[in-house]
Order: sequence, then C-alpha cells, then structure tokens
Amino acid sequence: EKGGYDYFMLKEIAEQPKAVADTLLGRIDEAGRLALDEVRIPDHVLREVNKVVIVACGTAYHAGMIAKYAIEHWTRIPCETELASEFRYRDPILDQRTLVVAISQSGETMDTLMALRHAREQGAKVLAICNTNGSTIPRESDAVLYTHAGPEVAVASTKAFLTQLVACYLVALYLGQVRGTKWGDEIGSVIRELSQISTEVEKVLATMEPVRELARSLADKDTVLFLGRHVGFPVALEGALKLKELAYMHAEGFAAGELKHGPIALIEEDLPVVVVVPSPRGRSVLHDKIVSNIQEIRARGARTIVIAEEGDETVVPYADHLVRIPATPTLLQPLVATVPLQVFACELATARGNEVDQPRNLAKSVTVE
Ligand code: M6R
Repeated sequence: EKGGYDYFMLKEIAEQPKAVADTLLGRIDEAGRLALDEVRIPDHVLREVNKVVIVACGTAYHAGMIAKYAIEHWTRIPCETELASEFRYRDPILDQRTLVVAISQSGETMDTLMALRHAREQGAKVLAICNTNGSTIPRESDAVLYTHAGPEVAVASTKAFLTQLVACYLVALYLGQVRGTKWGDEIGSVIRELSQISTEVEKVLATMEPVRELARSLADKDTVLFLGRHVGFPVALEGALKLKELAYMHAEGFAAGELKHGPIALIEEDLPVVVVVPSPRGRSVLHDKIVSNIQEIRARGARTIVIAEEGDETVVPYADHLVRIPATPTLLQPLVATVPLQVFACELATARGNEVDQPRNLAKSVTVE
C-alpha cells in the first residue's frame, strides 16, 4: 500500500499536488467565485462575525498561523491563532459573533476538541477544518470544511498540512466574498492562482534531488535553525517541527526580525540555517530585510540554505545552498515553500537511520490532553 515508496511519508509528500487539487475541487465555480454551500453557517451569521479565533495543535497550528495573515488581510476581521492546549485555560473572550475555526487532520485531537467544546459553551460558532470524515471534531462543530487529502498514515503530517492551508484560504476568501470586503482584483487573481497551485507544487517536487543530497550531507549535525518572516515564519516553525519529530535533531524556527533580539547569538561556524525568503514582489520591504539577515548570519559563519523564488537574484551571493520555488502570491507561498522542508526532514531521518513513518514517542492522533 506504500505504492512503491519506501515510506508512507514519501508517498504522502508525492500525493500533495493531487491532495491540493482535490481540496479545491467543486469549490470554485466557473465565474471564479467560491461555492462553499457545505459550510452550513448562514451568510447573515458570517456577516456578523467580528472576530475569528483559530485553535489547533502542532502542524495544524502552523496552518492556523498562516490563516491569520490571510484572514486579516483579505477580510479585515481581527483573527487570533492559539494553541488548542492553551486556549480554554486562559478564559478567552468569546461570544455569538466569534467564529472559532478548529483545524485537525485526525478530528480526534483531545486538546482541540476541548477547546471547541469550551468555545461552543460560550456561544461561539465553530467551523472545523478536518481530514477525517465523521470524526469527533466535525461531529461536535456547527459546520465543517473537509480537506480531501485522503488517509494520512505517516505520523509526520505533510499532505494534510497543504490541504489545511488550502481550506484556510478558502475560508478566508469566502468570508471576504460573503462580506464584500476587499473583493476586488486581488482576490480574483488569488483565486485564479490558487486553482493553478497544484501544478506549482508538482514543479517543486520534481526538483528535490539537490535537497535530498544536502540533507544527507548534514546527517551528523546537531542543530538546524529556520528563519522566516510574515507567512514564512510559520513555514520556518513547520520546517523545525518536521526535523525534530523525524530526525530527532535540535531545530528551532524564528521570525527573522527577532534575530537581533537574541537568536543571533546562536550562530556559529558552519551552523546550517534555512531561510525562507518572501517574494521580492509583493511585500518587497520584507524581502530586502531578510536578505540583510542572510548577510548578517553568513558573516558570522552560518551555512545558509536559502529558499527563494525563481528569478530572485539578490540572494545568490549569500546562499551556500539555493533552493528555488515558483513565484506565487505572497500569502500562498507556504504551499510551495513547505515542500522542500518536508523532503529535507524525511531524507535526514533516513540518513540518520530513524523510523520515518513512526518516529519515537509519537502517536498519529493524540487523544489525551
Ligand atoms: O490530527 P491533528 O491535525 O489534530 O494533529 C495535530 C498534531 O498532533 C499534528 O499535526 C502533529 O504535530 C504532527 N505529528 C506533525 O507532523
């Protein structure tokens, strides 16, 4: 059932273009508008929403962090993303006008379930983004948007993450559509790009051999750092999480702007640092800032592994290793930027002789708090 792959994880990484396309299937109509009738929360309720709160754990939490950027930018509704395990213990402020989005691949994660129960008790509406039909989280929610990743067997989440992102973008764009906010040229073109994105993911997958080679060459390292900004920050966190769970290496993700507030002290000779570079188009200020971060860490001896858009030549002089990803709208970049990090972690785990599909101490779904 591994379809000729050595591990489920490799199979699931390879299935991502299809998983992404399947999650979009039937949800964008011919006029390029979103058709999410399955989200049974009536439009008039969605129009009244004045706050979105996203709760999730692990990789799903990283998808939720990215969703915050998309929701606030496209809908102008304040959005916060919180670890499900922290949520109910701080007495969060919720009411009928709060939309809580619970993201979970398995639909059985206890922390997320307890968070959504708490939200509903306070009168909030809960929308689940879930990959498992009929599981507990969607059953206990007011509405559900299923991701169509197909069964994910490997403990490390890959294709579920990409489809969670797609579902989050759909929710964000749908809120924008229903409420009429910012429903202009930008949204129309984002929807067009989103419908093409599975081809872009495929292109990334076709160019991964150098990443695998690089991973093998780093098998005896102790630490890898990941830096990103804007939506690249959660991508950095996801890259670090994958490396921890699969390669059992010390890995940290940082917001690049935080470097000088502490983490830069960690930089030493030959320390591998993966940097996710935002598009030079779009938020170009951030792009330039991260390029100076790359220069700063390299001057202190870091071995820079730079993930940058095709055609971005400014990074070339400072990249010890350069991984190219296709140009996408800024907010969609995580869909292509995460893929090399998954491949990197999987190959490092293999090189270190670890069990890829069943990392030590971990379970696929965490049904205890
Ligand atoms: O099933 P869920 O999406 O609720 O699971 C949440 C986390 O336990 C999960 O994403 C975990 O972090 C993965 N092992 C990460 O690869």
